[in-house]
This record gives sequence, C-alpha cells and structure tokens, in this order.
Amino acid sequence: MAQPPTFETVPRHVAIVMDGNGRWARKRMMPRGVGHKAGVDALVSVVQASVDRGIEYLTVFAFSSENWKRPEEEVSGLMSLLLVAVAKHLTKLCADGVRIRIAGDLENVSPKIRDALLDAQAKTAANSRLTLTVAFNYGGRWDIVQACQKAMRDGLAAAQLDEAALSSYMTMAYAPDPDLLIRTGGEVRLSNFLLWQSAYAELYFSDCLWPDFDASQLDQALSTFAQRERRFGDVGESGQGAGALGGAVGSTDQPSGH
Ligand code: FPP
Repeated sequence: MAQPPTFETVPRHVAIVMDGNGRWARKRMMPRGVGHKAGVDALVSVVQASVDRGIEYLTVFAFSSENWKRPEEEVSGLMSLLLVAVAKHLTKLCADGVRIRIAGDLENVSPKIRDALLDAQAKTAANSRLTLTVAFNYGGRWDIVQACQKAMRDGLAAAQLDEAALSSYMTMAYAPDPDLLIRTGGEVRLSNFLLWQSAYAELYFSDCLWPDFDASQLDQALSTFAQRERRFGDVGESGQGAGALGGAVGSTDQPSGH
C-alpha cells in the first residue's frame, strides 16, 4: 500500500460538513438516498485516511437539528442508513483504534437510533488512535444553549462563566477546537456547525460533492492547511507577536506538527 503523504503541520482536529449527497445522486438520475449511501462510503474512506495521516480528532456533521425538515422518506432513509452503517463498520473501526463519540441532542430521537449510537460509543470507548465524533441531531446554537443551561443548573455565578468555563460545558469538551473545518458541495457557510468551537478554525471550502471526497481530496485540504499562517488574533510570526508562542485564549487546538 502506498504511504500517505507527509505534511509539515497536521491538524489535530478536522471537522467536516459533508454536503452534496443529493446533487451527486441527481447528476446520476438516482434518488437522493443513493447519494447518502455513497456518502457513507466516502466517510469510511476519509476516516481511514485520517487514521493513516495521524489526525487525532475527526468530527462530521451527519444530521443537523434542521434536517428533520426534509421529506419523511429521506429522513427515515437516513436513519436506516445510519443503523446499517454502524452495524457494518463497527468491527473494522474498532480494529483501527477509532473511538466513536456522539455530539447532539439524543433526548428526542427514537430509542432504536439512540441505543445504536450509544452502543457504538460504549464499544469503542477504549480506543485512542482517532476520535470520530458524529454530530447527530446537532446544531451549534443548541450546543451553546445547552452549555449555558448546564452551567446555570450547576449554580455558576455570572462572573464565573468565562470562556474556559463555558467550553467545559460544550458537548465536545473532550476535544481540542477544530484546526481545520472542511465543507464540501460548493456552499460557503457554516450551517450552524460547531459555532463556538470553530472560532479560530481554518476554513476550507471545496466544490467536490461529498461522495466524491476521498483521501486525495483530504490531502489537498491538508496541504492548504499546512500553508496557512494561524495568528489567533495576534500579528503572527512575521510581526513577532506573542501568537508565535501561544494560541487562542482557552483553546487547546495546537496542531501536532508531525
Ligand atoms: C448533505 O447532503 C448531507 C447530509 C444531510 C447527510 C450526510 C450524511 C452522510 C454522509 C451519511 C452518514 C450519516 C448518516 C446519518 C447515515 P445534502 O443531502 O444536503 O446534499 P445536497 O446539498 O446536494 O442536496
């Protein structure tokens, strides 16, 4: 097997909005569900490529809090696909050292889906090579609101609620902030994904439709990332600011640099 390319800087955490499944299917005169199915295959290959390239955290937007507005048939197709995908790929993911975590509101999803997702989370809990967070029934605003609610329930005083405190209540408090946020499918927006966590993420937009996104497309994104100068609000290395030494306040998102 060919060795993956090496980059001067590899992001520790890559987040992806996997957009374009529907258009991919339409181009082939097929139902949208076929595009979602091909989207799962693309995800499986990107997870493998991420493991091979030493990415530690991969977070994917699988189903947003707004996706319930889609036609019933498409929503139920996505739910069945999710169940099938988990059953089909869990053993291999486990063997590759992938830990699955779910970010999102699981309270109002069907027990069948919730149990399958929590089961995948539990079965992979001891893995540490790559943490794959599946954002399901997730919205960035929901995440911020639930963090504030938890903090209030814990009785935090207003003065105690600083950036670090609020970060600790976000659903992905276990992960560093994303270094690189990729969106496929040609749209140039965040669509309510990781709003809090992406404050200093490098954004990469690709016209590639998600089912066509593969290891070589990921490498293009990684190569672009390696050329970006991250300043975290400082003046950067050329201006010799403190940013050359440190990152954003409350952020742990320093790239691994290997
Ligand atoms: C956006 O494409 C994609 C989604 C809403 C779902 C992404 C899901 C997967 C890749 C499969 C893995 C996840 C599950 C839940 C099985 P779109 O449908 O908006 O495409 P379009 O913009 O071309 O219409």
